[in-house]
Amino acid sequence: MDANGMVPFLNLKAQYEALKDEIGAAVTKTLASGEYVLGSEVSAFEEEFAEYVGARFAIGVNSGTSALHLALLAAGVGPGDEVITVSCTFVATVAAIDYTGARPVFVDVEPETLNMDVTQVEAALTERTKALLPVHLHGHPADLDPILDIARRNNLGVIEDAAQAHGAEYNGRRVGGIGDLGCFSFYPGKNLGACGEAGMVVTNTERYAHAIRKLRDWGQERKYHHVLKGFNYRMEGLQGAILRVKLRHLERWTQARRQHAVTYQNCLDGSAARTPVEAAYARHVYHVYAVRTPKRDALQETLRAAGVHTGIHYPIPVHLQKAYGDLGYGPGDLPVTENAAQELLSLPMFPELQTEQVEAVCRAVRQGLYDA
Ligand SMILES: Cc1ncc(COP(=O)(O)O)c(C=O)c1O
Repeated sequence: MDANGMVPFLNLKAQYEALKDEIGAAVTKTLASGEYVLGSEVSAFEEEFAEYVGARFAIGVNSGTSALHLALLAAGVGPGDEVITVSCTFVATVAAIDYTGARPVFVDVEPETLNMDVTQVEAALTERTKALLPVHLHGHPADLDPILDIARRNNLGVIEDAAQAHGAEYNGRRVGGIGDLGCFSFYPGKNLGACGEAGMVVTNTERYAHAIRKLRDWGQERKYHHVLKGFNYRMEGLQGAILRVKLRHLERWTQARRQHAVTYQNCLDGSAARTPVEAAYARHVYHVYAVRTPKRDALQETLRAAGVHTGIHYPIPVHLQKAYGDLGYGPGDLPVTENAAQELLSLPMFPELQTEQVEAVCRAVRQGLYDA
């Protein structure tokens, strides 16, 4: 409960309070250095994050969306190409494909993990298919081995959308560095969040890293020598400095999230709410802890009245969004995705949450579903 007896959905201020001195020192140092765009703090963060993920290269950018855009460009995706992805995601995944001029092609998701249903990918391949873009939704890794296998057999790139999955593992390896390119968001509410906007591309392929380094900075090889048509997608020095501080706490935070998930699981066991699964191959990092119920809207209302703040990720799948109507999809095309959009309810989940708060949320969920 907070001071008003409410359980917030997220509490960024609590994280800041706990790290105030460390963040303050990093900010002061960066302000004094004059390195406000890229610079030594960003370089150091890139090295530390690459090591954390287990990838050879990491390139800091100004958002997760920019990371996806540049990863797709580096993989050679452009007008006339198709990229197979999911609609059960945040809109940015699809927007980034659209930015390149390529066409997003959707497959449905698995009902349990809500990630790319690999059994549908082969039927979606055409001679225009250039890349596969799985999303590690909510922090649960997509089933990467069969995806990589299809990609290898068909000469396609694999770009991981790991925006929600810092530290998630697939068969013991951290996601992001498993495909050809991996993209992270450091939007403030993410498991590793900046105090503003930031993102990162990771890769083990040197030529991709070189291309992305240029593309994020106006396509420059040297100052004012533009060898590629690039972008202003650079990471700010302050964000690099703050993210370096926070990276040191990420594993502890992930463990706290996983502990809260255990508490939720135990307290909701036997209730009408379906709790999220963790596949045998996976280490879930619970960026979002979403339960499922056909009575989602009524439950959200009851929880709100009980002082429990919840979220819906996401109420309208991308293929049914007005902005992407030109792709030609309609209701019924992706039934698992559409059903998830109606049933998912995200419960409070952040490291600083107290066990008693999780237990109180579970009591309210049980009561809400009983009454509904
Ligand atoms: C799955 C997914 N992809 C991409 C993004 C885009 O990241 P950003 O908001 O940093 O641009 C986000 C987060 O916002 C996301 O959740």
